[in-house]
Amino acid sequence: LSIFVLLALLLSGQYYANYVYIMNGNLSFTNPVFVPPLLSYTEDDQGKHFELVVQEGRKTFLPNQESATFGFNGDYLGPTVRVSKGDYVHFNISNQLKEVTTVHWHGMHVPPEMDGTPHQTIQPGESWQAHYPIMNEASTMWYHPHTHGRTATQAYNGLAGFFLIDDENSSSLELPNEYGVDDIPLAIQDRIFDNDGALLYEMTSGAFYGKNILVNGTYNPVIDLPARKVRLRLLNGSNARIYYFGFSDDRSFHQIATDGGLLESPVETKRVRLSPGERAEIVVDLSDAKEVLLKSYPESDLLTITGSVWGGVGNSHFDILKIRPQATDKLSPPLPNKLNTIERWSTADVAKTRIMNLGGGVSAPSSSNGRTIPSLTHDHHTDMSSPELRGRGVPINGSLMKMDYANEVVKLGDIEIWEVTNLTGQSHPFHIHDVQFLLLDRDGKAAELGESGWKDTVLVDVGETVRVIMKFTDYASDSVPYMYHCHIMEHEDLGMMGQFLVIE
Ligand code: C2O
Ligand code: CU
Ligand code: CU
Repeated sequence: LSIFVLLALLLSGQYYANYVYIMNGNLSFTNPVFVPPLLSYTEDDQGKHFELVVQEGRKTFLPNQESATFGFNGDYLGPTVRVSKGDYVHFNISNQLKEVTTVHWHGMHVPPEMDGTPHQTIQPGESWQAHYPIMNEASTMWYHPHTHGRTATQAYNGLAGFFLIDDENSSSLELPNEYGVDDIPLAIQDRIFDNDGALLYEMTSGAFYGKNILVNGTYNPVIDLPARKVRLRLLNGSNARIYYFGFSDDRSFHQIATDGGLLESPVETKRVRLSPGERAEIVVDLSDAKEVLLKSYPESDLLTITGSVWGGVGNSHFDILKIRPQATDKLSPPLPNKLNTIERWSTADVAKTRIMNLGGGVSAPSSSNGRTIPSLTHDHHTDMSSPELRGRGVPINGSLMKMDYANEVVKLGDIEIWEVTNLTGQSHPFHIHDVQFLLLDRDGKAAELGESGWKDTVLVDVGETVRVIMKFTDYASDSVPYMYHCHIMEHEDLGMMGQFLVIE
Protein backbone atom coordinates (compact mmCIF):
# COMPACT_ATOMS: atom_id res chain seq x y z
CA LEU A 1 0.00 0.00 0.00
CA SER A 2 1.32 3.37 -0.90
CA ILE A 3 1.70 6.19 1.53
CA PHE A 4 -1.29 7.82 -0.12
CA VAL A 5 -3.59 5.03 0.90
CA LEU A 6 -2.49 5.23 4.48
CA LEU A 7 -2.81 8.97 4.39
CA ALA A 8 -6.26 8.69 2.89
CA LEU A 9 -7.29 6.17 5.50
CA LEU A 10 -6.00 8.35 8.28
CA LEU A 11 -7.51 11.54 6.95
CA SER A 12 -10.78 9.91 6.12
CA GLY A 13 -11.67 9.08 9.69
CA GLN A 14 -15.11 7.74 10.36
CA TYR A 15 -16.94 10.20 8.14
CA TYR A 16 -15.21 9.02 5.02
CA ALA A 17 -14.62 5.41 5.95
CA ASN A 18 -16.73 4.32 3.02
CA TYR A 19 -14.41 5.92 0.47
CA VAL A 20 -11.43 3.71 1.18
CA TYR A 21 -9.85 3.04 -2.16
CA ILE A 22 -8.97 -0.21 -3.69
CA MET A 23 -5.68 -1.16 -5.16
CA ASN A 24 -5.76 -3.74 -7.88
CA GLY A 25 -2.46 -2.57 -9.33
CA ASN A 26 -0.66 -5.87 -9.49
CA LEU A 27 -3.55 -7.88 -10.87
CA SER A 28 -3.58 -8.79 -14.51
CA PHE A 29 -6.69 -7.73 -16.37
CA THR A 30 -7.22 -10.54 -18.82
CA ASN A 31 -10.92 -11.40 -18.71
CA PRO A 32 -12.95 -9.96 -21.61
CA VAL A 33 -15.69 -7.89 -20.05
CA PHE A 34 -19.15 -9.41 -20.34
CA VAL A 35 -21.57 -7.27 -22.33
CA PRO A 36 -25.14 -8.24 -21.40
CA PRO A 37 -27.10 -9.36 -24.48
CA LEU A 38 -30.14 -7.37 -25.56
CA LEU A 39 -33.36 -8.96 -24.31
CA SER A 40 -35.42 -10.24 -27.22
CA TYR A 41 -39.16 -9.63 -27.37
CA THR A 42 -42.23 -10.41 -29.39
CA GLU A 43 -44.38 -7.62 -30.70
CA ASP A 44 -48.09 -7.45 -31.41
CA ASP A 45 -50.73 -4.75 -31.41
CA GLN A 46 -50.55 -4.63 -27.59
CA GLY A 47 -46.88 -3.70 -27.65
CA LYS A 48 -43.61 -5.43 -26.85
CA HIS A 49 -43.57 -8.57 -24.68
CA PHE A 50 -40.55 -9.50 -22.60
CA GLU A 51 -39.83 -12.51 -20.40
CA LEU A 52 -37.65 -12.32 -17.30
CA VAL A 53 -36.86 -15.29 -15.08
CA VAL A 54 -35.34 -14.60 -11.68
CA GLN A 55 -33.16 -17.60 -11.05
CA GLU A 56 -30.32 -19.12 -9.09
CA GLY A 57 -27.07 -19.70 -10.89
CA ARG A 58 -23.40 -20.54 -10.61
CA LYS A 59 -20.68 -18.32 -11.98
CA THR A 60 -16.93 -18.52 -12.29
CA PHE A 61 -15.64 -15.14 -11.16
CA LEU A 62 -12.17 -16.25 -10.09
CA PRO A 63 -10.24 -18.76 -12.21
CA ASN A 64 -11.44 -22.34 -11.68
CA GLN A 65 -13.68 -21.40 -8.77
CA GLU A 66 -17.44 -21.20 -8.78
CA SER A 67 -19.85 -19.14 -6.76
CA ALA A 68 -23.57 -19.44 -6.17
CA THR A 69 -25.33 -16.43 -7.71
CA PHE A 70 -28.68 -14.95 -8.71
CA GLY A 71 -29.47 -13.66 -12.18
CA PHE A 72 -32.20 -12.69 -14.63
CA ASN A 73 -32.38 -15.24 -17.48
CA GLY A 74 -28.84 -16.28 -16.60
CA ASP A 75 -26.30 -16.72 -13.86
CA TYR A 76 -25.46 -13.14 -12.93
CA LEU A 77 -26.98 -9.73 -13.81
CA GLY A 78 -29.61 -9.67 -16.55
CA PRO A 79 -30.07 -8.96 -20.24
CA THR A 80 -30.32 -5.34 -21.39
CA VAL A 81 -33.85 -4.17 -22.09
CA ARG A 82 -33.83 -1.71 -24.99
CA VAL A 83 -36.98 0.17 -25.90
CA SER A 84 -38.11 3.45 -27.41
CA LYS A 85 -40.13 6.24 -25.92
CA GLY A 86 -43.76 5.67 -26.86
CA ASP A 87 -43.51 1.86 -26.79
CA TYR A 88 -45.94 -0.08 -24.63
CA VAL A 89 -44.11 -2.85 -22.80
CA HIS A 90 -45.28 -6.03 -21.04
CA PHE A 91 -43.05 -8.02 -18.73
CA ASN A 92 -43.79 -11.51 -17.55
CA ILE A 93 -41.48 -12.11 -14.61
CA SER A 94 -41.25 -15.47 -12.92
CA ASN A 95 -39.52 -16.03 -9.65
CA GLN A 96 -37.61 -19.30 -9.49
CA LEU A 97 -35.75 -18.32 -6.33
CA LYS A 98 -36.57 -19.87 -2.98
CA GLU A 99 -37.29 -16.42 -1.60
CA VAL A 100 -39.70 -13.62 -2.36
CA THR A 101 -38.52 -10.90 -4.72
CA THR A 102 -39.72 -7.85 -6.68
CA VAL A 103 -38.48 -6.12 -9.83
CA HIS A 104 -38.25 -2.33 -9.82
CA TRP A 105 -37.65 -0.11 -12.87
CA HIS A 106 -35.21 2.37 -11.41
CA GLY A 107 -35.64 5.86 -12.83
CA MET A 108 -38.77 5.14 -14.79
CA HIS A 109 -42.09 6.92 -14.70
CA VAL A 110 -44.57 4.07 -14.31
CA PRO A 111 -47.84 3.61 -12.37
CA PRO A 112 -47.26 2.85 -8.66
CA GLU A 113 -48.73 -0.64 -8.95
CA MET A 114 -46.22 -1.41 -11.75
CA ASP A 115 -43.21 0.02 -9.94
CA GLY A 116 -41.96 -3.26 -8.43
CA THR A 117 -41.69 -1.89 -4.91
CA PRO A 118 -41.96 -3.98 -1.71
CA HIS A 119 -45.73 -3.99 -2.35
CA GLN A 120 -45.56 -5.89 -5.65
CA THR A 121 -44.01 -9.08 -4.36
CA ILE A 122 -43.42 -12.19 -6.46
CA GLN A 123 -43.53 -15.29 -4.26
CA PRO A 124 -41.24 -18.23 -5.05
CA GLY A 125 -42.66 -20.19 -7.97
CA GLU A 126 -45.03 -17.39 -8.94
CA SER A 127 -44.95 -14.73 -11.63
CA TRP A 128 -45.86 -11.09 -11.95
CA GLN A 129 -46.97 -9.11 -14.97
CA ALA A 130 -45.87 -5.53 -15.31
CA HIS A 131 -47.02 -3.40 -18.22
CA TYR A 132 -46.75 0.29 -18.91
CA PRO A 133 -46.01 2.83 -21.62
CA ILE A 134 -42.46 4.13 -21.96
CA MET A 135 -42.80 7.81 -21.10
CA ASN A 136 -39.20 8.62 -20.23
CA GLU A 137 -36.88 10.22 -22.72
CA ALA A 138 -33.69 8.57 -24.02
CA SER A 139 -31.66 7.46 -21.03
CA THR A 140 -29.82 4.70 -19.21
CA MET A 141 -32.12 3.22 -16.59
CA TRP A 142 -31.82 -0.09 -14.75
CA TYR A 143 -33.88 -2.74 -13.05
CA HIS A 144 -33.25 -4.50 -9.76
CA PRO A 145 -35.15 -6.11 -6.84
CA HIS A 146 -36.76 -3.95 -4.18
CA THR A 147 -37.65 -6.69 -1.73
CA HIS A 148 -38.46 -5.47 1.76
CA GLY A 149 -35.31 -6.00 3.83
CA ARG A 150 -33.61 -8.09 1.15
CA THR A 151 -32.68 -5.68 -1.63
CA ALA A 152 -29.01 -5.58 -0.64
CA THR A 153 -28.39 -9.32 -0.67
CA GLN A 154 -30.47 -10.00 -3.77
CA ALA A 155 -28.68 -7.30 -5.76
CA TYR A 156 -25.36 -8.43 -4.33
CA ASN A 157 -25.94 -11.95 -5.60
CA GLY A 158 -26.43 -10.56 -9.10
CA LEU A 159 -29.93 -9.21 -9.62
CA ALA A 160 -29.57 -6.08 -11.75
CA GLY A 161 -29.89 -5.22 -15.42
CA PHE A 162 -29.75 -2.26 -17.80
CA PHE A 163 -32.87 -0.65 -19.27
CA LEU A 164 -32.00 1.61 -22.19
CA ILE A 165 -34.44 4.01 -23.78
CA ASP A 166 -34.07 5.67 -27.19
CA ASP A 167 -36.15 8.50 -28.57
CA GLU A 168 -36.38 10.68 -31.67
CA ASN A 169 -33.92 13.18 -30.32
CA SER A 170 -31.29 10.63 -29.32
CA SER A 171 -31.59 8.80 -32.65
CA SER A 172 -31.14 12.03 -34.59
CA LEU A 173 -27.87 12.84 -32.84
CA GLU A 174 -24.56 11.56 -34.13
CA LEU A 175 -23.49 9.78 -30.96
CA PRO A 176 -21.78 6.39 -30.75
CA ASN A 177 -24.74 4.00 -30.64
CA GLU A 178 -23.64 0.55 -31.78
CA TYR A 179 -24.48 -1.57 -28.77
CA GLY A 180 -21.53 -3.66 -27.63
CA VAL A 181 -19.21 -2.04 -30.19
CA ASP A 182 -18.88 1.65 -29.40
CA ASP A 183 -21.80 1.98 -26.98
CA ILE A 184 -21.14 -0.12 -23.90
CA PRO A 185 -23.08 -0.43 -20.66
CA LEU A 186 -20.77 -0.86 -17.67
CA ALA A 187 -22.16 -1.85 -14.28
CA ILE A 188 -19.55 -1.34 -11.57
CA GLN A 189 -19.94 -3.40 -8.41
CA ASP A 190 -17.57 -4.06 -5.53
CA ARG A 191 -17.50 -7.55 -4.13
CA ILE A 192 -15.58 -9.85 -1.77
CA PHE A 193 -14.75 -13.49 -2.46
CA ASP A 194 -14.03 -16.17 0.10
CA ASN A 195 -11.15 -18.63 -0.17
CA ASP A 196 -13.21 -20.82 -2.49
CA GLY A 197 -13.96 -17.96 -4.86
CA ALA A 198 -17.57 -17.62 -3.74
CA LEU A 199 -19.24 -14.26 -3.29
CA LEU A 200 -19.02 -13.27 0.34
CA TYR A 201 -21.41 -10.81 1.90
CA GLU A 202 -20.38 -9.05 5.06
CA MET A 203 -21.46 -5.75 6.44
CA THR A 204 -18.87 -3.40 7.82
CA SER A 205 -19.94 -0.12 9.40
CA GLY A 206 -23.54 -0.75 8.47
CA ALA A 207 -23.14 -1.44 4.75
CA PHE A 208 -21.19 -3.58 2.30
CA TYR A 209 -17.79 -2.45 0.97
CA GLY A 210 -15.76 -4.89 -1.14
CA LYS A 211 -12.18 -4.77 -2.34
CA ASN A 212 -12.72 -6.44 -5.71
CA ILE A 213 -14.37 -4.44 -8.46
CA LEU A 214 -16.45 -6.30 -11.02
CA VAL A 215 -17.52 -4.75 -14.30
CA ASN A 216 -20.68 -6.42 -15.65
CA GLY A 217 -19.79 -9.30 -13.34
CA THR A 218 -16.31 -9.69 -14.82
CA TYR A 219 -13.33 -9.91 -12.51
CA ASN A 220 -10.09 -8.26 -13.75
CA PRO A 221 -11.88 -7.11 -16.90
CA VAL A 222 -10.41 -5.94 -20.18
CA ILE A 223 -12.25 -4.61 -23.23
CA ASP A 224 -11.28 -4.05 -26.86
CA LEU A 225 -12.70 -0.78 -28.12
CA PRO A 226 -12.35 0.94 -31.50
CA ALA A 227 -9.79 3.77 -31.45
CA ARG A 228 -12.41 6.45 -32.02
CA LYS A 229 -15.13 8.04 -29.91
CA VAL A 230 -16.75 5.53 -27.61
CA ARG A 231 -19.80 5.92 -25.39
CA LEU A 232 -19.71 4.29 -21.97
CA ARG A 233 -22.90 4.05 -19.93
CA LEU A 234 -21.67 3.90 -16.35
CA LEU A 235 -23.93 2.50 -13.67
CA ASN A 236 -22.84 2.45 -10.07
CA GLY A 237 -24.49 -0.85 -9.20
CA SER A 238 -22.58 -1.23 -5.95
CA ASN A 239 -24.44 -1.60 -2.69
CA ALA A 240 -22.71 1.28 -0.95
CA ARG A 241 -19.44 2.41 -2.51
CA ILE A 242 -19.02 5.81 -4.14
CA TYR A 243 -16.63 6.27 -7.07
CA TYR A 244 -14.91 9.03 -8.96
CA PHE A 245 -14.37 7.65 -12.45
CA GLY A 246 -11.57 8.79 -14.73
CA PHE A 247 -8.78 7.48 -16.92
CA SER A 248 -5.28 6.45 -15.96
CA ASP A 249 -3.64 9.06 -18.22
CA ASP A 250 -6.00 11.66 -16.79
CA ARG A 251 -7.43 12.44 -20.21
CA SER A 252 -10.51 14.59 -20.57
CA PHE A 253 -13.75 13.12 -21.77
CA HIS A 254 -17.30 14.36 -22.16
CA GLN A 255 -20.22 13.55 -19.95
CA ILE A 256 -23.31 13.50 -22.17
CA ALA A 257 -26.05 12.19 -19.88
CA THR A 258 -27.15 12.04 -16.26
CA ASP A 259 -29.51 9.48 -14.70
CA GLY A 260 -32.61 10.35 -16.65
CA GLY A 261 -31.53 11.81 -19.98
CA LEU A 262 -29.06 13.67 -22.14
CA LEU A 263 -27.49 16.86 -20.86
CA GLU A 264 -28.18 20.04 -22.78
CA SER A 265 -24.57 20.03 -24.04
CA PRO A 266 -21.61 17.74 -23.54
CA VAL A 267 -19.66 18.61 -20.39
CA GLU A 268 -15.90 18.24 -20.60
CA THR A 269 -14.39 16.76 -17.47
CA LYS A 270 -11.76 14.40 -16.08
CA ARG A 271 -13.80 12.83 -13.31
CA VAL A 272 -17.38 11.74 -12.81
CA ARG A 273 -18.64 10.99 -9.33
CA LEU A 274 -21.29 8.30 -9.03
CA SER A 275 -22.94 7.06 -5.86
CA PRO A 276 -25.01 3.86 -5.75
CA GLY A 277 -27.92 3.99 -8.19
CA GLU A 278 -26.57 6.90 -10.24
CA ARG A 279 -25.71 6.67 -13.95
CA ALA A 280 -23.65 8.79 -16.30
CA GLU A 281 -23.04 8.41 -20.01
CA ILE A 282 -19.62 9.52 -21.12
CA VAL A 283 -17.95 9.76 -24.52
CA VAL A 284 -14.21 9.25 -24.58
CA ASP A 285 -12.11 9.76 -27.68
CA LEU A 286 -9.69 6.87 -28.07
CA SER A 287 -8.36 7.88 -31.49
CA ASP A 288 -5.06 9.01 -30.01
CA ALA A 289 -4.98 6.38 -27.35
CA LYS A 290 -2.55 4.05 -28.99
CA GLU A 291 0.13 6.65 -29.63
CA VAL A 292 -0.31 8.34 -26.30
CA LEU A 293 -0.15 5.08 -24.46
CA LEU A 294 2.76 3.67 -26.35
CA LYS A 295 4.68 6.86 -25.68
CA SER A 296 4.02 6.92 -21.97
CA TYR A 297 3.88 3.22 -21.27
CA PRO A 298 5.97 1.48 -23.96
CA GLU A 299 5.31 -1.92 -22.48
CA SER A 300 1.55 -1.70 -22.63
CA ASP A 301 -1.26 -0.46 -24.81
CA LEU A 302 -3.78 -0.50 -22.05
CA LEU A 303 -5.75 2.47 -20.91
CA THR A 304 -7.41 2.08 -17.58
CA ILE A 305 -10.63 3.34 -16.21
CA THR A 306 -9.75 4.26 -12.70
CA GLY A 307 -11.61 5.26 -9.61
CA SER A 308 -10.23 7.44 -6.90
CA VAL A 309 -10.70 8.01 -3.25
CA TRP A 310 -12.99 10.71 -2.00
CA GLY A 311 -11.28 14.06 -1.98
CA GLY A 312 -8.89 13.09 -4.75
CA VAL A 313 -5.90 12.52 -2.48
CA GLY A 314 -2.67 12.64 -4.47
CA ASN A 315 -2.35 10.15 -7.30
CA SER A 316 -4.36 7.54 -5.49
CA HIS A 317 -6.41 5.48 -7.87
CA PHE A 318 -7.57 1.95 -8.39
CA ASP A 319 -8.02 0.02 -11.60
CA ILE A 320 -11.49 -0.87 -12.75
CA LEU A 321 -11.30 -1.81 -16.41
CA LYS A 322 -8.47 -2.05 -18.91
CA ILE A 323 -9.16 -0.75 -22.40
CA ARG A 324 -7.29 -2.03 -25.46
CA PRO A 325 -7.86 0.46 -28.30
CA GLN A 326 -8.18 -1.29 -31.67
CA ALA A 327 -7.37 0.23 -35.05
CA THR A 328 -10.51 1.27 -36.92
CA ASP A 329 -11.28 2.76 -40.36
CA LYS A 330 -14.41 4.47 -39.21
CA LEU A 331 -13.96 8.00 -37.97
CA SER A 332 -16.21 9.62 -35.40
CA PRO A 333 -18.00 12.85 -36.19
CA PRO A 334 -17.52 15.66 -33.68
CA LEU A 335 -19.85 15.57 -30.70
CA PRO A 336 -22.98 17.63 -31.23
CA ASN A 337 -22.94 20.90 -29.29
CA LYS A 338 -26.58 20.59 -28.42
CA LEU A 339 -27.83 17.29 -27.06
CA ASN A 340 -31.13 18.06 -25.47
CA THR A 341 -33.66 20.69 -24.46
CA ILE A 342 -34.51 20.79 -20.79
CA GLU A 343 -37.43 22.92 -19.71
CA ARG A 344 -36.80 24.11 -16.21
CA TRP A 345 -39.68 24.88 -13.88
CA SER A 346 -39.87 28.24 -12.26
CA THR A 347 -39.70 28.18 -8.46
CA ALA A 348 -42.64 30.60 -8.59
CA ASP A 349 -44.83 27.65 -9.64
CA VAL A 350 -43.88 25.45 -6.72
CA ALA A 351 -46.92 24.23 -4.77
CA LYS A 352 -45.05 22.84 -1.79
CA THR A 353 -41.58 22.50 -0.34
CA ARG A 354 -40.98 19.32 1.62
CA ILE A 355 -38.21 18.96 4.15
CA MET A 356 -36.36 15.65 4.20
CA ASN A 357 -34.00 15.34 7.14
CA LEU A 358 -31.68 12.35 6.93
CA GLY A 359 -30.75 11.14 10.40
CA GLY A 360 -31.41 12.94 13.63
CA GLY A 361 -33.11 10.17 15.59
CA VAL A 362 -36.34 8.20 15.41
CA SER A 363 -39.57 9.76 16.58
CA ALA A 364 -43.22 8.95 16.03
CA PRO A 365 -44.26 9.47 12.40
CA SER A 366 -45.50 13.02 12.01
CA SER A 367 -49.15 13.14 11.18
CA SER A 368 -49.17 16.44 9.32
CA ASN A 369 -47.90 15.06 6.02
CA GLY A 370 -48.69 11.38 6.17
CA ARG A 371 -51.47 8.85 6.53
CA THR A 372 -51.80 5.13 7.19
CA ILE A 373 -52.89 2.92 4.31
CA PRO A 374 -54.91 0.17 6.03
CA SER A 375 -55.12 -1.93 2.87
CA LEU A 376 -51.38 -2.48 2.83
CA THR A 377 -50.05 -5.41 4.76
CA HIS A 378 -48.06 -4.61 7.80
CA ASP A 379 -45.37 -7.23 7.57
CA HIS A 380 -44.32 -7.85 11.17
CA HIS A 381 -41.58 -10.19 10.16
CA THR A 382 -39.57 -7.57 8.34
CA ASP A 383 -40.90 -4.48 10.02
CA MET A 384 -37.90 -2.21 10.13
CA SER A 385 -39.30 -0.25 13.01
CA SER A 386 -39.15 -3.30 15.27
CA PRO A 387 -37.25 -2.58 18.49
CA GLU A 388 -34.14 -4.64 17.74
CA LEU A 389 -33.61 -2.87 14.41
CA ARG A 390 -34.62 0.54 15.64
CA GLY A 391 -31.13 1.53 16.60
CA ARG A 392 -29.60 0.45 13.30
CA GLY A 393 -31.54 2.27 10.64
CA VAL A 394 -31.08 5.91 9.71
CA PRO A 395 -34.47 7.62 9.87
CA ILE A 396 -35.81 10.13 7.39
CA ASN A 397 -37.74 12.87 9.18
CA GLY A 398 -37.64 10.81 12.34
CA SER A 399 -39.18 7.66 10.94
CA LEU A 400 -38.09 4.38 9.47
CA MET A 401 -39.91 2.63 6.63
CA LYS A 402 -43.31 1.32 7.66
CA MET A 403 -45.13 -0.74 5.07
CA ASP A 404 -48.60 0.57 5.83
CA TYR A 405 -47.73 4.22 6.27
CA ALA A 406 -47.40 6.85 3.56
CA ASN A 407 -45.12 9.50 5.01
CA GLU A 408 -46.04 12.07 2.38
CA VAL A 409 -49.07 12.76 0.24
CA VAL A 410 -48.49 14.66 -3.00
CA LYS A 411 -51.11 16.19 -5.28
CA LEU A 412 -51.09 15.04 -8.89
CA GLY A 413 -49.93 17.82 -11.16
CA ASP A 414 -47.99 19.67 -8.47
CA ILE A 415 -44.48 20.99 -8.82
CA GLU A 416 -42.58 20.51 -5.57
CA ILE A 417 -39.18 21.22 -4.09
CA TRP A 418 -37.70 18.63 -1.78
CA GLU A 419 -35.04 20.00 0.48
CA VAL A 420 -32.84 17.14 1.64
CA THR A 421 -30.48 17.76 4.55
CA ASN A 422 -27.94 15.25 5.73
CA LEU A 423 -27.63 15.33 9.52
CA THR A 424 -25.57 12.13 9.71
CA GLY A 425 -21.83 11.49 9.59
CA GLN A 426 -21.77 9.91 6.13
CA SER A 427 -22.99 10.69 2.62
CA HIS A 428 -26.28 9.22 1.38
CA PRO A 429 -27.54 8.89 -2.21
CA PHE A 430 -31.16 10.05 -2.05
CA HIS A 431 -33.46 8.43 -4.63
CA ILE A 432 -37.07 9.27 -5.50
CA HIS A 433 -39.33 6.95 -7.49
CA ASP A 434 -41.84 8.04 -10.16
CA VAL A 435 -40.09 11.26 -11.16
CA GLN A 436 -36.97 12.66 -12.70
CA PHE A 437 -35.91 15.81 -10.87
CA LEU A 438 -33.55 18.72 -11.45
CA LEU A 439 -31.04 19.94 -8.90
CA LEU A 440 -31.65 23.49 -7.82
CA ASP A 441 -28.65 23.85 -5.56
CA ARG A 442 -26.25 22.32 -3.08
CA ASP A 443 -25.96 24.47 0.04
CA GLY A 444 -27.29 27.35 -2.00
CA LYS A 445 -24.75 26.93 -4.80
CA ALA A 446 -26.00 26.08 -8.29
CA ALA A 447 -25.53 22.50 -9.41
CA GLU A 448 -22.41 21.72 -11.41
CA LEU A 449 -22.86 21.12 -15.14
CA GLY A 450 -22.38 17.38 -14.78
CA GLU A 451 -25.45 17.32 -12.55
CA SER A 452 -27.51 19.82 -14.50
CA GLY A 453 -29.68 17.24 -16.28
CA TRP A 454 -32.46 14.87 -15.24
CA LYS A 455 -31.69 12.95 -12.06
CA ASP A 456 -33.46 10.40 -9.89
CA THR A 457 -30.67 9.87 -7.37
CA VAL A 458 -28.50 12.55 -5.81
CA LEU A 459 -25.66 12.25 -3.35
CA VAL A 460 -26.14 14.36 -0.25
CA ASP A 461 -22.88 14.94 1.58
CA VAL A 462 -22.37 15.24 5.31
CA GLY A 463 -24.02 18.41 6.56
CA GLU A 464 -25.19 19.36 3.10
CA THR A 465 -28.61 20.55 1.97
CA VAL A 466 -29.60 19.67 -1.60
CA ARG A 467 -32.74 21.11 -3.16
CA VAL A 468 -34.40 19.28 -6.04
CA ILE A 469 -37.44 20.28 -8.07
CA MET A 470 -39.87 17.93 -9.79
CA LYS A 471 -43.40 17.56 -11.10
CA PHE A 472 -45.75 14.70 -10.29
CA THR A 473 -47.72 13.78 -13.39
CA ASP A 474 -49.89 11.08 -14.97
CA TYR A 475 -50.20 8.50 -12.21
CA ALA A 476 -52.20 8.73 -8.99
CA SER A 477 -53.40 6.22 -6.41
CA ASP A 478 -55.07 6.36 -2.99
CA SER A 479 -53.66 3.03 -1.94
CA VAL A 480 -50.37 2.25 -3.68
CA PRO A 481 -47.40 4.41 -2.71
CA TYR A 482 -44.09 5.16 -4.35
CA MET A 483 -40.82 5.09 -2.41
CA TYR A 484 -38.03 7.53 -1.65
CA HIS A 485 -34.93 6.24 0.05
CA CYS A 486 -31.22 6.12 0.50
CA HIS A 487 -29.73 3.99 -2.29
CA ILE A 488 -27.07 2.51 -0.06
CA MET A 489 -28.91 -0.77 -0.18
CA GLU A 490 -28.21 -1.76 3.41
CA HIS A 491 -29.54 1.60 4.60
CA GLU A 492 -32.65 1.07 2.50
CA ASP A 493 -33.10 -2.43 3.93
CA LEU A 494 -32.69 -1.12 7.46
CA GLY A 495 -35.52 1.32 6.90
CA MET A 496 -33.93 4.50 5.49
CA MET A 497 -36.94 4.76 3.22
CA GLY A 498 -40.27 6.49 3.15
CA GLN A 499 -43.41 6.20 1.03
CA PHE A 500 -45.46 8.83 -0.77
CA LEU A 501 -48.86 8.72 -2.36
CA VAL A 502 -49.69 10.79 -5.39
CA ILE A 503 -53.38 11.58 -5.18
CA GLU A 504 -55.88 13.33 -7.39
CU1 C2O B 1 -32.94 1.68 -7.46
CU2 C2O B 1 -36.07 2.37 -4.97
O1 C2O B 1 -34.48 1.96 -6.21
CU1 CU C 1 -36.01 3.48 -8.10
CU1 CU D 1 -27.73 6.01 3.46
